Amino acid sequence: MSPTVRTQVAIVGAGPAGLVLSHLLAAEGIASIIVDARSREDIEQTIRAGILEQGTVDLLATIPGSRVHSVGMRHDGIELRFEGAGHRIDFHRLVGRSVWLYPQHEALRDLLAARLADGQDIRFGTTATAIEGVDGTRPRVVATDAAGGVVDIEADFVVGADGSRSVVRHAISGPHAGLFREYPFGWFGILCEAAPSADELIYSNSPDGFALISQRSATVQRMYFQCDPDADPHAMSEREIWDELQRRVPGTELVEGPIFQRDVLRFRSFVARDLRAGRVAIVGDAAHTVPPTGAKGMNLAVADVVLLARALEALLKRADASLIDGWADAARARIWKAQHFSWWMTSMLHTVPGATDFDRARQLGELRTVVESEAGRTYLAEAYTGWPLG
Ligand code: PHB
Repeated sequence: MSPTVRTQVAIVGAGPAGLVLSHLLAAEGIASIIVDARSREDIEQTIRAGILEQGTVDLLATIPGSRVHSVGMRHDGIELRFEGAGHRIDFHRLVGRSVWLYPQHEALRDLLAARLADGQDIRFGTTATAIEGVDGTRPRVVATDAAGGVVDIEADFVVGADGSRSVVRHAISGPHAGLFREYPFGWFGILCEAAPSADELIYSNSPDGFALISQRSATVQRMYFQCDPDADPHAMSEREIWDELQRRVPGTELVEGPIFQRDVLRFRSFVARDLRAGRVAIVGDAAHTVPPTGAKGMNLAVADVVLLARALEALLKRADASLIDGWADAARARIWKAQHFSWWMTSMLHTVPGATDFDRARQLGELRTVVESEAGRTYLAEAYTGWPLG
C-alpha cells in the first residue's frame, strides 16, 4: 500500500483552470497538489484557441514571468462579414475593453513555469482513477503514476479541472452528466506560415459556410472553415483548402503559405448537472463545453476558478461555508450567459445543412440587426470582451 499524501486542495488537471486555481490558492497561503495524466511537454503543446478576455489577461498579467503583454497582441475589435461587406465591431469604443490574442499553449507555458518556480507540487503522468469520500469531509483522489504505482491524495477539498471526460464529474454525477446539444457542423482548422491577412479577426458568414480568419503571430496564422464534423482533415490538398477558405471571405485576398497543421473540431454545448457535491467541485471543460465561435472556453474556466478560489479561502481559512454554498449558482449564472453567447454567434454565422431560403434571409436580417444597431454591437462587444469578474 502506498502512503496517503495530505494537502488542503487536490486538483485533478494541469490545464488553465487547475493551474490558475493553484496560483490563486497559493496567494492565499493554501496548499494544493495537482495531478495530470499528461507530461509537461504534452500540456505545453496542446493547440487550443487563442482569445483572452480583458479580465483573463488582467489576472494572467499578475503571474510572475507572464508574457501575456509582451507576446500577446491586443485586439480592439473584430470584423463581422456577410454579403461581401465587412462591419467592424469596435470593442474599445463600445465598451472600453479589449481582448488579447495569446495562444492557450503560451499561457500554459507561463503558468507551468511560474507554478513550478513557486514550488507547486505537480504530478505529471499521474492519472486520477477514482474520487473517494465525495460525501464526507476528507475526499480523496486515487491515481496511478507513470510507473503504475498508486497515489492516494487526501484533501479538505477536491477540484476536477480534468477536461471534458472528467473523472471527477463522473464521481459527482455518475452517468447523468448534464444538458447538452450537438451541432451538425464543425471547424476545419489550419496553422500556416504566412503574414496576417487582416489586422483583426474576421468572422465571415457566406453562402458557402462560415470562415474565421484568426492569427497567431506575425509569421503564423490560424484559420478555420465550417465543415462536416466527420470530415477527414487529411483528405484535402493545400490548394483545395485555400480555395475553400478564399471563397468564404469574399473581399479579402488571403495571404497563403505552407500549412503545417490541420485538425477538425467538433462542436458541442454542454453544462454539467452538478458543479459541486459536498467538498468536491468541477471547473472548466469538466463543467461545461462551448462551441469555439464565441472564444469563451478558457475564459470561462478562469472565471470558474476565480470564484472558487474566493469560496475556498473563506471555507478553509475562516470556516465560512457561505461562499462555497453559493458557488455553483454563481458560476452557473455566468456559464449560461456564455453558453447563450457562444450558441448565438454560432447560429448567426454558420450555414445549417438543409437551411431553407427563409432561414438564410432571416439570418442575414439578424446580422444586419446587430451591426446596424449600437445596442446590438454593444451586446456583442460586452459579451466577447467578457463580463466583469465581480
Ligand atoms: C483562434 O485563434 O484559435 C480562435 C479565435 C477566435 C475564436 C475561436 C478560435 O472565436
